[in-house]
Amino acid sequence: MPNRATLTSQSPEQTLEIAASLARQFPHALVLLHGELGAGKTLFARGFAKGLNIECNVSSPSYTLMNEYKSGNQSLYHIDLYRINCFEEVIDIGLFDILNAGCPCLIEWAERVTELNKLPHLEVCITRSADDPDWQRQIAWELKESQI
Ligand SMILES: Nc1ncnc2c1ncn2[C@@H]1O[C@H](COP(=O)(O)OP(=O)(O)O)[C@@H](O)[C@H]1O
Ligand SMILES: [Mg+2]
Repeated sequence: MPNRATLTSQSPEQTLEIAASLARQFPHALVLLHGELGAGKTLFARGFAKGLNIECNVSSPSYTLMNEYKSGNQSLYHIDLYRINCFEEVIDIGLFDILNAGCPCLIEWAERVTELNKLPHLEVCITRSADDPDWQRQIAWELKESQI
């Protein structure tokens, strides 16, 4: 099984499909999402939830820091670090409890807390394509091992 790939999405729907397929491949992952504002990180989170059969309103947790989406006994956590800059705060909101419970967790603006890179994770970088910045995105993913 490959541990990295770069895919091209031509539409929001394709981004949802790519994210859903990664969720099926890595259902327990800590996913660190990188990409500028409007790249499609929240949309990716919506697709990831869909891939785990979690049907609910996935929106940006910018003001709540963390959202939990549930379906039956499956949970998905969605964190936005736009307003957080330190690892302690991420620990305080329960990241390790989530990961130890085997629950998947998506983190937007993960680059703000560099310590997160040391944890085993699925790195996802979404960039607008120069050719068609309105609709086309490059979605590069890579499975990263623990550096601790
Ligand atoms: N191929 C694509 N993939 C993802 N989003 C796209 C794509 N084409 C257009 N968009 C639009 O880009 C925006 C992405 O918004 P959002 O997911 O909230 O970004 P972010 O969370 O990175 O700030 C949405 O309005 C979406 O419809
Ligand atoms: Mg967002």
